[in-house]
Amino acid sequence: MKTRIPMLASLVLAMLATTSHAQTQVGQPGRLLASNCFQCHGTNGKGGFDAINGKSVGEIYKKLKEFQAGKEGDGIMAKHALGYTDAQMQALDKWLSTQR
Ligand code: HEC
Repeated sequence: MKTRIPMLASLVLAMLATTSHAQTQVGQPGRLLASNCFQCHGTNGKGGFDAINGKSVGEIYKKLKEFQAGKEGDGIMAKHALGYTDAQMQALDKWLSTQR
């Protein structure tokens, strides 16, 4: 039982560290939004389906608008793009363009 207390303390510390890390990400709305894309497109937009990292600014935004307008069929991205506002798509575009 005695050994559990330090373990618990380090768990709490680890959680606090994670929380403060998460808070620093709030200043980057594009990064936070893009974490939604990583499960399919890979971490930071590479290594999954089509790479979406490191494109020129405006490219991802344009694609998302096309998906949203139904110009790219009615696949998963057409549905997914419907969930974002214009400002959110611009934030995604801007942040993803900085990823190499
Ligand atoms: C559930 C899986 C899934 C998620 C989540 C997802 N995508 Fe996709 N995405 C795909 C698939 C599959 C394709 C390729 C097929 C297609 O074009 O519909 C694709 C294609 C794309 C393309 C076109 C790439 C090209 O080269 O033509 C872009 C841009 C894109 N996704 C951006 C995003 C962004 C930005 C997000 C997060 C907001 C996201 N995707 C989230 C599955 C996903």
